[in-house]
Amino acid sequence: MNKGLFDTRYPSSQDLREKAKRRVPKFAFEYLIGGAGEERNLKKNHEDIQRIELMPQYIKKLDSVDHAVELFGKTYNAPFGIAPIGLQGLIWPNSPMVLAKAAFQKNIPFILSTVTTSSIEDVASITEGNFWFQLYHPAEEKLKKDMLDRAWESGCRVLVALADTPSFGIRYKDIKNGLSMPPKLSLKNILQITGKPNWALQTLVYGQPNFATLKSYMPKNLNLGQLGKFMNDTFNGRLDEEKLKALRGQWKGKLIIKGVVNEVDAEKAVAIGADGVIVSNHGGRQLDAGESTIHSLSRLLEKYENKLTMMMDGGIESGTDIARCLATGAKACFLGRTFMYGVGALGKKGGIHTINMLDMQLRQVMDQLGCESTDELTRDLIVQDWGK
Ligand SMILES: Cc1cc2nc3c(=O)[nH]c(=O)nc-3n(C[C@H](O)[C@H](O)[C@H](O)COP(=O)(O)O)c2cc1C
Repeated sequence: MNKGLFDTRYPSSQDLREKAKRRVPKFAFEYLIGGAGEERNLKKNHEDIQRIELMPQYIKKLDSVDHAVELFGKTYNAPFGIAPIGLQGLIWPNSPMVLAKAAFQKNIPFILSTVTTSSIEDVASITEGNFWFQLYHPAEEKLKKDMLDRAWESGCRVLVALADTPSFGIRYKDIKNGLSMPPKLSLKNILQITGKPNWALQTLVYGQPNFATLKSYMPKNLNLGQLGKFMNDTFNGRLDEEKLKALRGQWKGKLIIKGVVNEVDAEKAVAIGADGVIVSNHGGRQLDAGESTIHSLSRLLEKYENKLTMMMDGGIESGTDIARCLATGAKACFLGRTFMYGVGALGKKGGIHTINMLDMQLRQVMDQLGCESTDELTRDLIVQDWGK
């Protein structure tokens, strides 16, 4: 395969992670990898997906594998997309632009976080408006309307309302690292940066990361405490039916709720007229005692797959994992950390590389499973009785 598009030294998410770890300062890398509390939820997300065994279908005619998927009236080339990540430029400078561009070129969904380091307008300018926008729900009506207008005018037609962040998760690594925006220049952090010349150089080129979409609404140079206060004052993270109903009325495009993991919330999503949900626990960063997303998805599917487009994220690291989630019943899935490992490892080549890596892995698994399309990737292919 063309080395410019797929670097054979990094055929897996784990290889990208190892390389990214060598290039990204420790406080930023730990911000990326960390989960809430003792990180049980984080680990379970991946472990529970990996338990799923799939049954190959070998003696069967198969013409070609096509894993395109239709989501909200648009056909994407693959059933996986890039999850919203806050503060991406801290992990690797300019990374939201690198990922948004790669997603646009390869025609997969890209979700822009409210609190990342490239703005709605910057991303729109390189994607012809082809991106989804994840909204932290603003407390003030005026701010909400402004952000919705900006997203709509930029061409975005899919809004992703985030449900799972009524408060920020307690992440021990970030607390110990004194994570702040811009990065606090403690001696410890300076030492971590000086050991990472590429990151430091790229940060000089692209400037200190900031909350680009929110910049015009916020005071400058907030530390972690001030940032927390600004976020608490500006956003009411806790959603309720009233807020969602209002959002539904205001947004003319498709409305997705991210962070739905139980029937009560799924029922509300249906009631307010949401088009879909992303079953997600924020990558294990919120409730350490929560269940894995693949378990939540399995429970919700029977009742809701005909009422909502059911997507998921959390713990997906390969094309094999994507196949496991699709076979369980997800219409599409999203990856957060793996894409950031890609950019952390390979800079501006990391987006395309990671998409090509997952694409190649998924195609190979579908070929083994005898599936020509994602519609054929069904629950029948899951080995049911193992260990019984
Ligand atoms: C460093 C980091 C920052 C995140 N920031 C956001 C965010 O701003 N908005 C959001 O909706 N989800 C955010 N998430 C959650 C991701 O969108 C996604 O749910 C999660 O990363 C999926 O799990 P995975 O990393 O195992 O693929 C963040 C996740 C990480 C790891």
